[in-house]
Amino acid sequence: MFRNLLLLVFSLCLVTTLVHGSNDNERKEYIIYMGGLQGAGTSAMVDHHNMLLTAIGDEEVARESKLYTYRKSFNGFVAKLLPNEVKRLSAEKRVVSVFPSTVRKLHTTRTWDFLGLSETLSRENAKRESDIVIGLLDSGIWPEAPSFNDTGYGPVPIKWRGKCVNFTGCNRKVVGAKYFNLNQDYSDRDTPSPIDDTGHGTHTSSTAAGVFAKDASLHGLGTGTARGGVPSARIAMYKVCWDSGCSDADVLAAFDEAIADGVDLISASMGGPSRSFFEDPIAIGSFHAMKKGILTSCSAGNDGPAASTVENVAPWIMTVAASGIDRQFRTLATLGNGKYISGISINTFSPEKKMYPLTSGALAANVSERYGNASACDFGTLDQNEVMGKIVYCLGSNGQDYTIKRTGGAGAIMMLDSDTDTAYSTVIPGTSIFPRDSKLIEQYISSTKNPQAVIQKTITINVSAPFVASFSSRGPQIISLNILKPDISAPGVNILAAYSTLTTTTGYPNDDRHTVFNIISGTSMACPHASAAAVYVKSFHPDWSPAAVKSALMTTATPMKIIEEDAELGSGSGQINPTQAVNPGLIYDISMSDYISFLCKEGYNHTAIGLIVGGTDKIDCSKFKPAQGTDGLNYPTMYTKLHSNSTSISATFYRTVTNVGYAMSVYTSKVTSLSGLLVKVIPETLKFSKLNESQSFTVEVKGSLEPTGSKQLSALLEWSDSKYNVKSHIVILRPLAD
Ligand SMILES: *[C@@H]1O[C@H](CO)[C@@H](O)[C@H](O)[C@H]1NC(C)=O
Ligand SMILES: *[C@@H]1O[C@H](CO)[C@@H](O)[C@H](O)[C@H]1NC(C)=O
Ligand SMILES: *[C@@H]1O[C@H](CO)[C@@H](O)[C@H](O)[C@H]1NC(C)=O
Ligand SMILES: *[C@@H]1O[C@H](CO)[C@@H](O)[C@H](O)[C@H]1NC(C)=O
Ligand SMILES: *[C@@H]1O[C@H](CO)[C@@H](O)[C@H](O)[C@H]1NC(C)=O
Ligand SMILES: *[C@@H]1O[C@H](CO)[C@@H](O)[C@H](O)[C@H]1NC(C)=O
Ligand SMILES: *[C@@H]1O[C@H](CO)[C@@H](O)[C@H](O)[C@H]1NC(C)=O
Ligand SMILES: *[C@@H]1O[C@H](CO)[C@@H](O)[C@H](O)[C@H]1NC(C)=O
Repeated sequence: MFRNLLLLVFSLCLVTTLVHGSNDNERKEYIIYMGGLQGAGTSAMVDHHNMLLTAIGDEEVARESKLYTYRKSFNGFVAKLLPNEVKRLSAEKRVVSVFPSTVRKLHTTRTWDFLGLSETLSRENAKRESDIVIGLLDSGIWPEAPSFNDTGYGPVPIKWRGKCVNFTGCNRKVVGAKYFNLNQDYSDRDTPSPIDDTGHGTHTSSTAAGVFAKDASLHGLGTGTARGGVPSARIAMYKVCWDSGCSDADVLAAFDEAIADGVDLISASMGGPSRSFFEDPIAIGSFHAMKKGILTSCSAGNDGPAASTVENVAPWIMTVAASGIDRQFRTLATLGNGKYISGISINTFSPEKKMYPLTSGALAANVSERYGNASACDFGTLDQNEVMGKIVYCLGSNGQDYTIKRTGGAGAIMMLDSDTDTAYSTVIPGTSIFPRDSKLIEQYISSTKNPQAVIQKTITINVSAPFVASFSSRGPQIISLNILKPDISAPGVNILAAYSTLTTTTGYPNDDRHTVFNIISGTSMACPHASAAAVYVKSFHPDWSPAAVKSALMTTATPMKIIEEDAELGSGSGQINPTQAVNPGLIYDISMSDYISFLCKEGYNHTAIGLIVGGTDKIDCSKFKPAQGTDGLNYPTMYTKLHSNSTSISATFYRTVTNVGYAMSVYTSKVTSLSGLLVKVIPETLKFSKLNESQSFTVEVKGSLEPTGSKQLSALLEWSDSKYNVKSHIVILRPLAD
């Protein structure tokens, strides 16, 4: 027995050694990030090669290991490295960070009316809007979608330096299209061009800036005029997402080019696990964009409702959660006994018969198949003869319609694990029913020899909105503990927009439907709505900084109608209200030196901060006005997460607002505190005598930590004059029990 144990220990050691051994000898792809451009970009290639040569020690290996150079908007390169070379390069004075290139993923027509930007709204500034180019980092674009028709567009803005690479779909609407795949890592579902093979990039681009497309619908569902939020703006697509995902190296390459091409805003509906800002390609890219006055708007992620799932959390990013609109897609299943169940799905099929035989996964189980869960209709568990031509009831709602179609079934009634607000397309007649309705159908099936059912074509109903989508990622963020994320919400549930006919309606290979418009959900869909809203604001205020535009959207946002326990940790400041955001009254602006003070306060290495900012001098954090208060940044929300040893609440926020309303104005503060927070605003009144004037104030938050109550305490600070109402949410997160 002892011998066996020893043997086991020995073999475990062997395995560990082998694994380690192979790791040490295998070159992996790393990004060597060196901060801003320091001087002439042309010498960068030589410089990078020399650094690699020093780290690797062999001219030829150094040459072969280098994959890409970033030198248009920031400095760095991509190389295949061994662990000891990573160490050597990390120790270089001029290097900010060396991090592995990982893979990120995409965060997969009435919406603009719902948000107040109606079709008939006069757009006096359409001319300025048409000078704006939105750069999207996504899966490409399907040029034949009617949303990208350029009839009536003026010439491409003169400042535009982008181009179209291996793409014939560019016109005056789609003014740029490039693709990035450093590894040449193509599957048979990837086209090596900016063409959209999946529909995602086409959907996000047309949501942001598609032209009016009348009578858009998905096989008759959601009918209306599909259009982007800023239909006059131009689109530039940077394809970085492929069948295998979106690699960090490609994402950074796209930022490098987009900034240099002259985009006015970057919209990125993708993400991955949060990392320290200077090891995160989206945080790095968006920082350099911000330096050039370009706001980056990103999706918050689809990992909700679990806490601490929010992604893309750097303070210079606008992090967008998904909200639901007032329209829901419901699909009725009528049973043979005349009772019906209202499920949720997008079912474009009308029934061909009055009734179909009904069975369940459990009843149709293949008795000689011992693996898998037949009740859940797992693939391969059902007896084809029992399923053929029938509607099948399955426990679970994640692709059962696909399995039932492959097994020859006529339809699927799928039972959700928990309630949901989001409908998904089914590949055969299908509906997903809520857990509370399972008894009704189960009792019916067992009550009769010949159960029957029929699934109707989907209808739409009105629901109370906005609310935060269940899938939308929630705070608190884990990188900057004193900055509230997500920032804002925008519609992301069941959004109709243009699609690529290179894929199928559901994306399943056994779907033979292709659609010009499709209804899909995700914070991916929310992000381009917020991006468009930012462009809309920018078209009225071309000189506003990215932080000012974001502030305008945040302080004018509409509160959620249905407030869940997560509150602001789910919705941020609320749902975008683009027309209000054009006239916010006051803005919370943030300059580059404010960000430097913030990064110093957050403990980032001052040598690294100097490189990132791109000056030739080192940043001496002591020479910058120290970031004051609990969070150290002039953010439109005020937030902190208490330390686990805190016994009471005490936080101070220093803020400065700039007057963009009326020259002569007086704002008074009002605090609404729902959870016992004591909030003191000093001074309580702010007087402005001219436009662009700034005034500072302090917010002191105190309170006792009662052992019961919700996990966060919130209050709302409003600065109001006769016309404007500038809202800032204050959120204090309790220490979480371990
Ligand atoms: C900051 O980074 C530089 C260069 O990598 C390094 O030499 C220095 O020790 C770091 N400073 C601190 C305080 O970590
Ligand atoms: C673009 O729109 C114009 C005007 O509505 C129409 O005449 C033209 O056929 C459209 N072009 C394409 C390629 O659909
Ligand atoms: C250009 O795109 C086409 C598809 O549109 C693709 O077949 C071809 O391989 C691409 N060419 C290059 C050089 O990548
Ligand atoms: C049942 O399962 C067995 C074993 O996997 C398989 O060989 C057989 O084809 C299945 N029968 C039907 C009717 O699906
Ligand atoms: C099969 O799946 C259902 C739904 O997920 C679950 O409730 C049930 O316990 C599973 N059965 C087995 C045997 O795993
Ligand atoms: C649903 O909402 C639309 C638009 O807000 C409204 O016109 C319609 O009357 C509503 N329908 C019902 C049944 O409430
Ligand atoms: C509470 O914890 C923080 C960090 O965890 C520490 O800096 C602080 O000194 C602690 N305070 C007390 C009173 O223990
Ligand atoms: C507003 O003030 C900022 C800095 O205080 C300045 O850069 C900007 O030009 C001013 N704008 C106007 C319209 O006066």
